[in-house]
Parts: sequence; C-alpha cells; structure tokens
Amino acid sequence: MKKIKTCIFPVAGLGSRFLPATKSIPKEMLVVVDKPLIQYAVEEAKAAGIERFIFVTSQGKSAIEDHFDSSPVLEETLKKRGKVAEVERLEALRLDPGQAVYIRQHAPLGLGHAVLCAQHLVNEDAFALILADDLVLADEPCLQQMIQEYTPQDGNMVGVMEVPMEQTHRYGILDVLQHKGKKVLAQEVIEKPSLEKSPSNIAIIGRYILNQSIFNYLQNQIPGAGGEIQLTDAIQAMLKKVPLCGYRYKGHRFDCGTKEGWLEANLAFALEQPDLRINLQKNLQQYFPLNSGNQKECA
Ligand code: G1P
Repeated sequence: MKKIKTCIFPVAGLGSRFLPATKSIPKEMLVVVDKPLIQYAVEEAKAAGIERFIFVTSQGKSAIEDHFDSSPVLEETLKKRGKVAEVERLEALRLDPGQAVYIRQHAPLGLGHAVLCAQHLVNEDAFALILADDLVLADEPCLQQMIQEYTPQDGNMVGVMEVPMEQTHRYGILDVLQHKGKKVLAQEVIEKPSLEKSPSNIAIIGRYILNQSIFNYLQNQIPGAGGEIQLTDAIQAMLKKVPLCGYRYKGHRFDCGTKEGWLEANLAFALEQPDLRINLQKNLQQYFPLNSGNQKECA
C-alpha cells in the first residue's frame, strides 16, 4: 500500500472566539506553553511520515508562512551568542524548500470548501487532514496511530471520541453500524445535529485520512450546517461508494478553538515538562485549595 505523504492544514478561519487576541494574529499561532498550535500540528504530521504540507490560508495569515521559514538574522545572532539549543529548535521547525505549499481560500465558505481549494495539489489516492485547533496529547501522535491502522478498505477515516450528548451539536456525529476494536464502521454521519437528531455521541475530531475522490463530491456540495460547505456532508454523500471508518485514537484531545480548551491544554502540556511541572503544581494549589468548597467563610 502506498504511504500517505500529503497533509492539508486548513488555516483560513477567522478565530472570532479569541478576539481581540486574534485580530492581527492567526488563531493557529496561539501559543500552548511555548509553541503555536500550527507547529504542534505540523510536528504531528511529520511524526506520521508526512512529506508535503499544504496550508489553506487567507488574508492576515502570513505569520504562519514566516513561522516555518528560515530567519537568517535571528539564527545568526543566536549562533554568535552561543545559544545552541535555541538555534537547534529553530532549525528543527523549518520546512524544507518545496515541502510547504500555501494557497488561499478567498472567502470563508466552510471546511469542505477549504479542502477543495487544495484539489489540484493532491495526487495520491489518500491524504491526511489536520485541524490545528484540535490538539491531542498522546504517547503516540494521533495521526501516526491512524496512518498505521489505515487500509484502503477503510475508505475515509476520521479520528473519533465520545462526547456528552448535550455537546453533539458542536461536532460531526457518526451513526455506528459496527464496532471492530479501535475502528467503528459508520452508516451515516451528520454535521452538528440537534440533540434529538444525534444518532450517537461518537464525534469526529480534527484528524482525517480522506479518499482522493472526496474532491469530486466537494465540487457539487451545497452549503449545509451554518450555511457553509461542510466536509462531513461530502463524506456522507460518498458513503454508498466509499465507507467511513471512525478511529478511536489513544490520547486526550483539547478543543483549542475555545478558551476553556486552550487554557486546559496549556496546563496539561506544561505539566508534561519536568522543568515546569514541580513549580506549577505547587503554585496552582493557591488557586484550587483542597476542600475549598467546605471552607467556612471568614468572619
Ligand atoms: C469541524 C468539523 C466537525 C468536527 C470538528 C472537530 O467543525 O466540521 O465535523 O467534529 O471540526 O473539531 P468546526 O469545529 O470547525 O465547527
């Protein structure tokens, strides 16, 4: 089987939930501990063997291009000052010439439309897609887990997790026909269903392996939930010909598209770093005193 070598990163979204922070900074450049979200996404893709990185951007997103480019003045200055570790960190994040492609989505027409923008750049039978605001903390990177388990018979594969029923309206939700270990076979998928119409609580997270034929369906896709061209609707339209496999990845996903999720991710990722962990644990206790609910009010 041919390996999956291309990954699309839709990064054209407005980031309105984080205004004013995201007025002049792309939301994908929001930092979790010491790296922007988009860097986590690219590192995850690299770990999974991805060699071509397609960023679907929009106006005001040039900071993303700069981030993965070389910065000679900065690097030279750091070298002169003997900051070896810092230079190495910068070199490691650079994408080689020709590895990264930046294309524009000219209008915010939805995730499905963003993916369609990359059609002429994808030649393989299957390609990956990462939504950078879904950050996954895992021993083995989420996309790597999926690529290892993916077979062409899976058709389209999406990372899935269980969510509380009252949150299903925020996700693409699978109607599950069969459970096969970590894989679930879906007979239907609905984008952002109401609670009454939710077929399950198995939700898609921002990790996909998509069959190349999805572009044909996206071309004809009419706007769906939120008036946008939805990727989920194209996956549903394909179902008669191309199966849909949900993959229960191992790890913890943070919704960094929300303030709560982003804050939690910062804590979780910081606690992973030994140099931050000890002081952080100690200092956090003042904000969350033990048994605070039982404390008597001061007289
Ligand atoms: C997108 C997808 C949705 C998926 C979600 C995961 O929605 O359309 O199917 O469940 O990402 O984060 P968005 O969060 O962009 O509205």
